Amino acid sequence: MVKVLILYYSRGGNVEALARAVAQGVEKVEGATAELKRVDYATVEDLISCDAVAFGSPNYFGYMAGLLKDFFDRAWSIREKVAGKPAAVFTCGGSSSDSALLSIERIFPAFKMEKAAGGIVWGLREKGSPFEKDLSELKRLGETLAKAAVERKTRMPED
Ligand SMILES: Cc1cc2nc3c(=O)[nH]c(=O)nc-3n(C[C@H](O)[C@H](O)[C@H](O)COP(=O)(O)O)c2cc1C
Repeated sequence: MVKVLILYYSRGGNVEALARAVAQGVEKVEGATAELKRVDYATVEDLISCDAVAFGSPNYFGYMAGLLKDFFDRAWSIREKVAGKPAAVFTCGGSSSDSALLSIERIFPAFKMEKAAGGIVWGLREKGSPFEKDLSELKRLGETLAKAAVERKTRMPED
């Protein structure tokens, strides 16, 4: 069984709704399970023990939430244990800005994480608050990420 960590920050619930949709997508894949963790309840051990990871953040001033950035800063010392893991990003903002998404994706090379799916920006002004029925893109992201994790585990069972 591969574990896909969905590591997110949410204050008002929008990113959390996106995170739950990603988890539903993960659970569709045979042999994969999702673990949802708000970043302020996560430790770097969670990042080490997972097989793939989806990062979710609100857009705060064109960047990821400070708590997620702090998590990356703390995880730097264990970066070698993260190398090669499939990863993906989803963000939510008032507008459809890509900058928060890119602020996370730009960190992938430093950790040698593999981008396994195109990132998703949920723009509230354009799409409204996320409701379960509208979240098919996010579910697909979860599914793609989980498939990449299963494939990697088959190829590299010891990793
Ligand atoms: C401190 C702060 C800064 C924000 N900055 C931006 C911004 O620069 N651009 C944007 O589109 N939305 C911005 N927003 C709106 C949030 O990204 C948006 O409300 C998001 O859905 C919050 O996610 P949550 O409901 O999961 O907490 C900001 C919100 C806060 C609280």
